[in-house]
Amino acid sequence: MYTQALDTHGKEPVVAAAGESAAHAARFQSRVDADEKIEPKDWMPDAYRQTLIRQISQHAHSEIVGMLPEGNWITRAPSLRRKAVLIAKVQDEGGHGMYLYSAAETLGVTRDHLFEQLLSGAAKYSSIFNYPTLTWADVGAIGWLVDGAAIMNQIPICRCSYGPYARAMVRICKEESFHQRQGFEIMLTLAQGTAAQRLMAQEALNHWWWPSVMMFGPSDADSKHTAQSMRWKIKRFSNDELRQKFIDVTVPQAHFLGLTIPDAQLRWDEATQHYIGGPIDWSEFNAVLKGNGPCNRERLQARRTAWEAGRWVREAASAHAEKLAARTTQAA
Ligand SMILES: [Fe+2]
Ligand SMILES: [Fe+2]
Repeated sequence: MYTQALDTHGKEPVVAAAGESAAHAARFQSRVDADEKIEPKDWMPDAYRQTLIRQISQHAHSEIVGMLPEGNWITRAPSLRRKAVLIAKVQDEGGHGMYLYSAAETLGVTRDHLFEQLLSGAAKYSSIFNYPTLTWADVGAIGWLVDGAAIMNQIPICRCSYGPYARAMVRICKEESFHQRQGFEIMLTLAQGTAAQRLMAQEALNHWWWPSVMMFGPSDADSKHTAQSMRWKIKRFSNDELRQKFIDVTVPQAHFLGLTIPDAQLRWDEATQHYIGGPIDWSEFNAVLKGNGPCNRERLQARRTAWEAGRWVREAASAHAEKLAARTTQAA
């Protein structure tokens, strides 16, 4: 009921005159321009709704697929403290997925439908999670770089025009900040350790640097959604601007760790006060996006198995809800 009711909210009435619909659109844009939050029952252009459903659900999928590469190390964490921290972090990512699926549901789509799209391969998630975690240092590098890149991407979304998405991001960003620090601390410990540990840290940086830089998405020139999303204040900075911020923050951190960024062309540019990197190999990004990364099949299979294993829980919860509803009707 909840979702069906929302389904009819905010869409243009079929019988609306063209002038009326244009007036709705103008009022909507002026609210966005005035930095007002758009709420689920407010009128919104259908393309705005669809863009948000696509973006929020991709984000939610990325959170729960992102649990897999690190979850893989919970049983092998090198100490009890590291294990407790990693469990807390992976659990946070599950929570992020739940907030985001809930935010997407306010736009009139069901969670079951979003899951179907993920499990059938129709929906995308962040391609970074299709890389394997081969050593403990990879867990450190994910926290430092992948969560670090996620923070750059997500802090501006706290000011997104859509209220439920913006509010979900406030807590998510606080937790991502803890994730980034725990990753950096793992890297720092390794970087100050034995020669073998330093090498492990360097190899993890080599492994995750370029996929992290690519997490910001295609260059602005090739990004088809950027301009409209900026007008709607779903997006506040372009992909290239966010990527530059990430590089500028992360390069000095690598220097502090005594590690080398695997980009021979990387240099400090005095004129612009930015680090300028070498060209990005987008063919790799596109191959991973198309499903040909090292772990695409494994990740989707893990999600499908989890969905099947949880079927009895969903069915039991539905049966219980039906019994409760029947009891309430009888009592009335
Ligand atoms: Fe997260
Ligand atoms: Fe995270």
